[in-house]
Amino acid sequence: MGRGHPGRVTPKALEYLKEVVDYGFGNSTGPNMGNRFEAAFAKRFGVRYAIAQCNGTATMHSCLAAAGVKPGEEVIVPSLTAAATAFCCLHQGAVPIFTDLDAKTFNIDPESIKERITPLTRAIIPVGLYGLSADMDPIMELARKHNLTVIEDNAQCFLGEYKGRLAGTIGHMASFSLQASKHLTCGDGGVVITDDQKLADGVRRFGVFGFRIADSEGVMSKEARGHPTSLRHDFLGWNYRMSDLQAAVALEQTERIDELVDLRKKIGAMYLEAVKDCTYLIPQYTPPEYVHSYWTFVCRFEAKEAGCTWDDFRNTFRSLGGDFLYGAWQLTYNEPVFQERRFLGGSFPIDSEIYKGKRQEYKPGLCPTAESLQPKLMQFKTNYYNLVEAEQQAEALRKTIEAINGKKGNENAGFPL
Ligand SMILES: Cc1ncc(COP(=O)(O)O)c(C=O)c1O
Repeated sequence: MGRGHPGRVTPKALEYLKEVVDYGFGNSTGPNMGNRFEAAFAKRFGVRYAIAQCNGTATMHSCLAAAGVKPGEEVIVPSLTAAATAFCCLHQGAVPIFTDLDAKTFNIDPESIKERITPLTRAIIPVGLYGLSADMDPIMELARKHNLTVIEDNAQCFLGEYKGRLAGTIGHMASFSLQASKHLTCGDGGVVITDDQKLADGVRRFGVFGFRIADSEGVMSKEARGHPTSLRHDFLGWNYRMSDLQAAVALEQTERIDELVDLRKKIGAMYLEAVKDCTYLIPQYTPPEYVHSYWTFVCRFEAKEAGCTWDDFRNTFRSLGGDFLYGAWQLTYNEPVFQERRFLGGSFPIDSEIYKGKRQEYKPGLCPTAESLQPKLMQFKTNYYNLVEAEQQAEALRKTIEAINGKKGNENAGFPL
């Protein structure tokens, strides 16, 4: 058992959980934790609707369904992101179309989106990668021109800002994950925000079996539900409900959202300071008028310039008191699931008739910038709940850089130093 994250969740969560437990759970009655969490979340983002679901993949799937994305249609996604971003397209029977990245921000490149739009394109999913918003203005412009729905996948981006606006309030919908590594957590959970009532209703109903009587406010009339003549299911939906236990903790986290995000931002700033003179650790670039929320602090590591390998760097960092240091995910299309087309019932929808004879190939060269960037990335953790612990990590990073710089003048030294 590790040392855990004391301070991340406060006793207030226990109070909310106790309300749920003391009530004994209700089907449509009780302490109303789901609605309380949703109201608090919507308020902080200044939007009309927040819809809670069981995780941030379910929410993305629900957004695609609410946007009316159909099997065989295309959804544009970045190549570097958690696999969930592309998986939710396949869950809807849609084809994820992978795009290249901006070499400096590591985020989806609007130019690459432009090149990939076809008559089958229905939606774009920009990801607020590592806590930094994508370049939303040109993306919204393309969406307007081609009549596409934009779903911000902000699983990793809470209170990030883009040109004075909160990330998540720019696209037609945005989805957040409350999985254990995220800025806010309730173990697992997800939430969608939007100002569009129709989309909000679509998301809500998709996650509760396509219920006719669920709307964006989450209201389910008992009278309607309890009558023998009532018709309940308008369309095929999934069960993506968030439990009241999840919502109780999510409410406590939302009440502390600024504090929790500020901590990560401070930790990001500590790492930034540590690498500021380093020539071979190039941090993810935060353009002017953006605010990075630092789900994690990520650098491009240039091994040639450092004079050591990625593994040497990591081993040295850890030997000097550094915590675990993560490499980036594989580009999603390089995972076996895509290379071997292990989708629904075989390769559906990609090699099926529904895809109108089109084919997608997942070969090297599909996204050249992403392919050269991915093996170089290093992710430093920001998931700390006291700044002393975080400062020790920034110090370990400083010492690693010093040691590696020293080694450059002493070719006989081995790694770790
Ligand atoms: C960018 C991104 N999208 C979607 C997800 C899926 O969220 P969840 O794990 O809550 O299903 C995650 C992370 O887990 C993520 O990082």
